[in-house]
Amino acid sequence: MSGKNFRRTELGGKPLHPSTQMTAYGYDPALSEGAVKPPVFLTSTFVFETAEQGADFFDVVAGRKPAPEGMGAGGLVYSRFNHPNTEIVEDRLAIYDKAEKALLTSSGMAAISAVALAHLRPGDALVHYTPLYGGTETLFGKVLSGWGVKPIPFTDGASEAALLYALEKAARHGPVKMVYLETPANPTNALTDIKLIRETVDHWAMTSGQKPIIVCDNTMMGPVFQRPIEFGADICVYSLTKYVGGHSDLVAGGITGSAEMLQPIRQARSAYGFQLDPHSSWMLARSMETLSLRMERAAESGRKVAQWLAQNDMIPYDIMHPEFTNDPKQRDIYDSQCTGPGSTFSFVVEDNRDLAFRILNGMTLFKLAVSLGGTESLVCHPASTTHSGVPIEARKMAGVTEGLIRLSVGLEHPDDLIRDLEQAFKSATQGGPHATAAE
Ligand SMILES: Cc1ncc(COP(=O)(O)O)c(C=O)c1O
Repeated sequence: MSGKNFRRTELGGKPLHPSTQMTAYGYDPALSEGAVKPPVFLTSTFVFETAEQGADFFDVVAGRKPAPEGMGAGGLVYSRFNHPNTEIVEDRLAIYDKAEKALLTSSGMAAISAVALAHLRPGDALVHYTPLYGGTETLFGKVLSGWGVKPIPFTDGASEAALLYALEKAARHGPVKMVYLETPANPTNALTDIKLIRETVDHWAMTSGQKPIIVCDNTMMGPVFQRPIEFGADICVYSLTKYVGGHSDLVAGGITGSAEMLQPIRQARSAYGFQLDPHSSWMLARSMETLSLRMERAAESGRKVAQWLAQNDMIPYDIMHPEFTNDPKQRDIYDSQCTGPGSTFSFVVEDNRDLAFRILNGMTLFKLAVSLGGTESLVCHPASTTHSGVPIEARKMAGVTEGLIRLSVGLEHPDDLIRDLEQAFKSATQGGPHATAAE
């Protein structure tokens, strides 16, 4: 039985669906006493059969020699480099994202940092969409810039001219090595047209002689509703802490792309020590079995909540949900690039922290916490939390106002969540300056 079925990709001449693959791919029960589920391999190091084998495995893990066909990253050596629990999830994430390879890391920020450390050098320039998750803005604007990497933002992900302007501006500072996207963006849900970015970068490469790689943060919709590699991204990064982990009980990151793109990142992960531990990796494999179920159900509930927000005249000025946008360009990108809306989106009230805080403090089912993508619904105020480290002008430019409230809709019944919002809106406006708006 060993090795027979655990890398099966098709049945009866038809490719297997990712939801089927998530229960089995990459794990051979015969290697673990027939256990249906993989054990947690709590070991820091692995025994070589011979000294020659040890030398051989080290050559592969150090990148001096390619891994033998069908052997993933080569033989097991030491758990900072590779271990069975991480390799099972890497194989499954690559399948879901339609990528050649995947890597796990100890957090989403470790994934982004490993990509940056492998592909950027002091003196390089980096062009990035803004807004990004606040931690990524801080990494680019404060940490990498301290290492001599120049970040240049652009704010319209549907405009060739906006990207070209940023590329030309960046090129005045140094070689442009990376274009970094996050789509949908956290917390505005603005979509970037990945295909347009690919075409623009390729076109610019012909005149400038520079070929920046395109990296896309796919945390908010991927891998179920969006696969940026199919649209021309070179590398995807993930906070697997969110939907893929899906239960708000672990912190992890992931990277997908071609073997060639990921090779230097694998080296950086080993050198800096960004590997994910066996227990969290095991929990991710467990979570991936229900990933499409959870994301589809949460997206359906999110759609109902957004619909209610869009129809009620109590408070919101704007609903930043891809199916309720008034911008036809954004709608076109959504229709061509995504197969569902996800379940994290924001709504905007008057640019007034007191009003926003009254709404947040009135919620009883939505828990007041940062993060997203778990089974439980969460609400947060990005301007005072996740994006508080972003300079105020940059926040304003990106539309992250004091009146922006982000929801992550989980698996509770949507009618209960709507009731929670309704009573929070009522209590926030009773007796206050907005009372008439609510009546
Ligand atoms: C879009 C996005 N990317 C990256 C990260 C960072 O992930 P982690 O907290 O797992 O390091 C987050 C965290 O909220 C996020 O929302």
